[in-house]
This record gives sequence, structure tokens and C-alpha cells, in this order.
Amino acid sequence: MTLSLEGTVALVTGASSGIGEATAVALAEEGAAVALAARRRDRLEALAARITGNGGKALVIEADVTDRQQELGRLDTLVNNAGVMLLGPLVGAPVEEWEQMVHLNLLGLLYCTHAALPHLLSAAEGQPREVADVVNVSSVAGRVARRNSGVYNATKFGVGAFSESLRQEVATRHVRVTIIEPGATATELASHNRREILEEMAANFGGIALMTAGDIANSVRYAVTQPRHVAVNEILIRPTEQER
Ligand SMILES: NC(=O)c1ccc[n+]([C@@H]2O[C@H](COP(=O)([O-])OP(=O)(O)OC[C@H]3O[C@@H](n4cnc5c(N)ncnc54)[C@H](OP(=O)(O)O)[C@@H]3O)[C@@H](O)[C@H]2O)c1
Repeated sequence: MTLSLEGTVALVTGASSGIGEATAVALAEEGAAVALAARRRDRLEALAARITGNGGKALVIEADVTDRQQELGRLDTLVNNAGVMLLGPLVGAPVEEWEQMVHLNLLGLLYCTHAALPHLLSAAEGQPREVADVVNVSSVAGRVARRNSGVYNATKFGVGAFSESLRQEVATRHVRVTIIEPGATATELASHNRREILEEMAANFGGIALMTAGDIANSVRYAVTQPRHVAVNEILIRPTEQER
């Protein structure tokens, strides 16, 4: 049986944990060779060993995506997943947290997309799929703004706007653009917040069954394994019990 991503190459940013790690595994299971980008090399190497141990192909790229990216080789699928969520009131917020979110969630995604686009356009012109994919991991926070989430909301709303503009620009050249908008998912994401914010988050989301990184990876897999004439533009996915 031919796997749906056989003969293709995917790059996943933020592949050292959470949604990125699970997505890299899912794409490798579909036959893609995966380039794994993040800052923690040891975690990437452990993941690469897991993927190659299962018969897949993986390449470790130790990279901070807020530095402008170097050139890539062949590329069929770019998953812009690396992100950080630092919550809290705007009044008196540490501006460094805002800068970190804007640099990673927006500029990092823009730099990676800019570097990847020539390769994606050329992959979409030929075998094996005659189509290529950009998957941008946004959030429910890219659809609904909430108190204490202002700058995270701003970055994820920005991802949505950029993705739709890009989609219109490259649609006829067979590069598909998908926005994934997860709700609460059990990963390391929240752990980077200040202690008082963590307590408030526990009060908001404590007690509901969260999604797993694998649940989100499945939605990425669904989007990028569609036939050439089908583009899944947006997937909003929440835990069943998450109200807002
Ligand atoms: N978990 C949720 O509830 C949830 C909900 C909605 C959306 N999301 C989105 O999902 C995406 C993935 O987050 P996650 O939940 O899987 O969290 P996570 O486990 O904290 O993963 C974040 C990833 O980003 C990488 N990263 C951070 N800074 C980086 C940098 N400067 N350069 C390269 N990589 C960097 C981290 O790796 P290194 O530290 O090794 O660099 C890590 O692999 C984010 O965009 C997040 O906003 C998550």
C-alpha cells in the first residue's frame, strides 16, 4: 500500500514537544520524511530516533525560528507550530513577554513561511502529489478574544489574517493553506506562565477533559492527506466540555 505522503518532505517547527512532536510522528506514519525544528536538540534527537526506529526518516534541525531561517531543500509540507502563550492582564504586563509572543508566534511563522514558499511552490508543480501544504497552528484564541489573553489573541488573530491572505495568493498554484485552531490541549504550553497566572488557568480549565497532542496531530493529518482538489482551510477543535 502506498502511504499518502510517500516521497514527500515535511518541516515541523516546535517539534520537540506537544502538538509539534505528535504531528511529526503522524506525518512520518503517512510516509513523509520529517525535518524536526526547535531549540532543544536532545528532545529532537530522541524523537528522530523514535521515527527512524519505526522505519521513517527524520532530520534534526536545532533552530530558533525567531532568527531568520536558512534555505531548505525539497519541501512539500510546512507545519508552523512553534508558539508560546504568556497570559495575564495587559496593565503592568512584562513587555518582554509580549515581545517573545510576537517574535515567535508571528515573526517566526512569517520567516519560516517566507523561506519555505519557493520550495512549496516548486513541489506543487510536480510529483508525487502536485500539491503542497502550509499548516499554521493558531488557536481558539485566534477566533475569540478574552480578558487576560490580549497579546496572545493578537498574535493568533494575526496568524488567521496572514493565512487567509496567503491562501488567496497561492490557491491557483496548488499550495493549500490550513489554519488549525485548537482549544485546551495537554502540553507544556501553559507551564511557561508566571505562578499567579497558572493558578488562574487551573481555575478556568481545571476539571475538564483536555485534548491530547495526538488529537491535534490527527487534524493536521486529515488536512494534508486530502486529495489534490480538496483544501481544508480551517479546523476549529475544542475539548467537548470547553464552553468558550
Ligand atoms: N496546548 C494548547 O492548549 C494549545 C491550544 C491552542 C493552540 N496551541 C498552539 O499549539 C502550538 C504548539 O504548542 P504546544 O501546546 O504543543 O506547546 P509546547 O509543548 O510548549 O510546544 C511548543 C514548541 O515550540 C518550540 N519553540 C518555542 N520557542 C521556539 C523558538 N524560538 N524556536 C523554535 N521552536 C520554539 C518548543 O521547543 P523548544 O523549546 O525546544 O525550542 C516546543 O517544541 C503553539 O503555537 C500554541 O500556541 C496550543
